[in-house]
Amino acid sequence: MKKIGILGSTGSIGTQTLDVVDECGFEVIALTANSRVDLLAEQALKYHPELVVLMNPDSLDELEYKLKGQNIKVLSGMEGLLQIVNHPEIDLIVNALVGAVGVRPTLEAIRSGKDIALANKETLVTAGELVMAEAAKHEVQILPVDSEHNALFQALQGEEVKWVSRLILTASGGPFRRYTAEDLEQVTPTQALKHPNWDMGGKITIDSATLMNKGLEVIEAHWLFGIDYDHIDVVVHPQSIIHSLVEFHDSSILAELGLPDMRIPIQYALTYPEREKNRLERLDLVKVAQLTFEEPKKELFPCLDLAYRAGRRGGTLPAVMNAANEVAVAKFMQGKITFQEIPDYITRIMNRHQVIDSPDLEEILAADNWARGETERMVEGC
Ligand SMILES: NC(=O)c1ccc[n+]([C@@H]2O[C@H](COP(=O)([O-])OP(=O)(O)OC[C@H]3O[C@@H](n4cnc5c(N)ncnc54)[C@H](OP(=O)(O)O)[C@@H]3O)[C@@H](O)[C@H]2O)c1
Repeated sequence: MKKIGILGSTGSIGTQTLDVVDECGFEVIALTANSRVDLLAEQALKYHPELVVLMNPDSLDELEYKLKGQNIKVLSGMEGLLQIVNHPEIDLIVNALVGAVGVRPTLEAIRSGKDIALANKETLVTAGELVMAEAAKHEVQILPVDSEHNALFQALQGEEVKWVSRLILTASGGPFRRYTAEDLEQVTPTQALKHPNWDMGGKITIDSATLMNKGLEVIEAHWLFGIDYDHIDVVVHPQSIIHSLVEFHDSSILAELGLPDMRIPIQYALTYPEREKNRLERLDLVKVAQLTFEEPKKELFPCLDLAYRAGRRGGTLPAVMNAANEVAVAKFMQGKITFQEIPDYITRIMNRHQVIDSPDLEEILAADNWARGETERMVEGC
């Protein structure tokens, strides 16, 4: 039985990973949360991991109290996450953290020789060059959990990257696909948090509405599969049934299809290279009846082009774009900036950044930190 550690077990991907554990049977060695003590304690009492980590130390006493007498080690902070990724018994780390906080645990897991089921797309956006180089050096597998990359990964089994002519990422188009520029002026966080097809965490749901999510995925695909940006396209497919496609030099296209249910890609990443039965609802093509496609509206949703620009320039620029986006999304959710201002702030921060080429981890984290501080100051006007 594979032994796993789940970083971010209380989130949307984390809880669905535990559904897959229930279905397929893995041994859970470690679980983590940022601040949701009740859910983390509930999970710990059910799965009896060896250790749990609460990132935010404020509620550590409460967690310790809830787990008293259970023989479960309770830790906090980045130190705790790094203990998990270095745990000698864990075979596979599921990185389901949200945001660039996922970079350091991913790198450390790679260096300790562990395969990673990677949902945390910000890892590859922020430090793709470094992460892929370390993964090659330590011969570890990065198994994509993101449904689009999982689809590409499945379509590429038994194929060679040199035969690929194009990767086509599908996008649902988000809740504002049919909106005009005037409509977008009025949108609220509550509206942006209503994704038409997927039930996900808050940050990625807003990223889906701005199309930044697809932009982050373009960069993620570039690093995972080694395809240049001119050969990665995005097509809007509102039904979210085709999760992405690979076009080969002979004009054949391979795709992966399924209902929009993240437990499918999570299970594939966890059981790879095998496939196991599950009881999930099956795709009924007749019921779906129609699969449609359209161009993304890049003028209305400039975040997609910002990500292509950051990806093509490389160096520290993607980390800066990602950090500015994280802050801008949080400010939008707090009602401090409008939906349309999200790309404006990101653009201004990217324009002010002096890019460092082939950065090391410290330079990446410094650029990330700079971008967070600058965006914060710009929004708060101080
Ligand atoms: N959800 C999806 O369907 C989906 C699909 C594809 C890719 N992804 C990617 O998967 C990742 C996770 O997404 P999600 O939707 O599952 O996010 P989420 O629901 O917000 O969950 C995030 C998890 O990370 C923890 N966390 C948040 N901030 C943290 C911090 N600063 N330090 C340590 N832990 C922290 C959260 O703890 P608390 O619960 O205590 O806050 C939670 O366990 C993201 O990179 C997202 O882009 C998600």
